[in-house]
Amino acid sequence: MASSNDSAPAIRASEVGKVYGRKEALSRVSFTIHEGETVAVVGPSGAGKTTLLHLLAGIIRPDSGDINLGGRALAGLTPGGELSRLVGVIHQQLDLVPQLSVLQNVLAGRLGRWGLARSALSLAWPHERETAEKALDRVGLADKLYERTSRLSGGEQQRVAIARLLLQDPQVILADEPVAALDPARAADLMGLLAEIAGHSGKTLVSSLHSIDLVRKHFSRLIGLRNGGQLFDLPSADVTGDMMDRLYDLRGIEGVETFQGRDYG
Ligand SMILES: Nc1ncnc2c1ncn2[C@@H]1O[C@H](COP(=O)(O)OP(=O)(O)OP(=O)(O)O)[C@@H](O)[C@H]1O
Ligand SMILES: [Mg+2]
Repeated sequence: MASSNDSAPAIRASEVGKVYGRKEALSRVSFTIHEGETVAVVGPSGAGKTTLLHLLAGIIRPDSGDINLGGRALAGLTPGGELSRLVGVIHQQLDLVPQLSVLQNVLAGRLGRWGLARSALSLAWPHERETAEKALDRVGLADKLYERTSRLSGGEQQRVAIARLLLQDPQVILADEPVAALDPARAADLMGLLAEIAGHSGKTLVSSLHSIDLVRKHFSRLIGLRNGGQLFDLPSADVTGDMMDRLYDLRGIEGVETFQGRDYG
């Protein structure tokens, strides 16, 4: 099928499915995301957003269907090296090392690219330090280089994760609810930063999030998931409030008992 987008496909998912035990977490999900596109993945808790992002990152394998990154089968890419050049992830549960300094956590962004021996040697490399310092400056943490990461606030730790991603420098950024733990002003600020970083370098950004305002502001396209299925895949301008209401409507979601119509007397 002809695409209105001329750039090369960055991610292609065909009929992707994932099952946990008897739970179908994702079912026959298909889409193509082009280089430089900004795509939001939305849907209620348990819809399959994290599962989808982890599949695209190669952290878990699909039980059915295929995923291609940059025209290559994801299953054939070497973890670490090739994969870390292609995709970087900001996890819903941040995976920073709390005991390490901010600077050391950011330098860890190079780990996949270097291999362990070189990484161990180069933690004090002046050039890399400079790059890490620039990245921390970019996310507004220039004054926290030597701070223990565990002492930072949730929002500051999110910024460290973004700085680490800047050092990793992948083609595709996958972010799993990167602003969920933040107050609205900081959430808007951080999402703006992520979108700016992606836009500035032409990177593809795929992020799950719940704020429709932020979606409309920063993402050109919206994939709606519900019960592991794709409810819609549309330009964000075409998504109506009614569609969002249906997406988040608790009625009909597997395993969720709603309070509607209950007698509390
Ligand atoms: N490791 C696992 N083992 C068993 N079931 C899992 C596992 N991971 C996810 N699930 C189930 O798969 C479904 C999708 O989970 P997923 O974490 O992808 O949802 P989500 O959309 O990211 O939700 P949230 O908004 O709460 O983060 C859920 O029903 C969840 O319980
Ligand atoms: Mg999740």
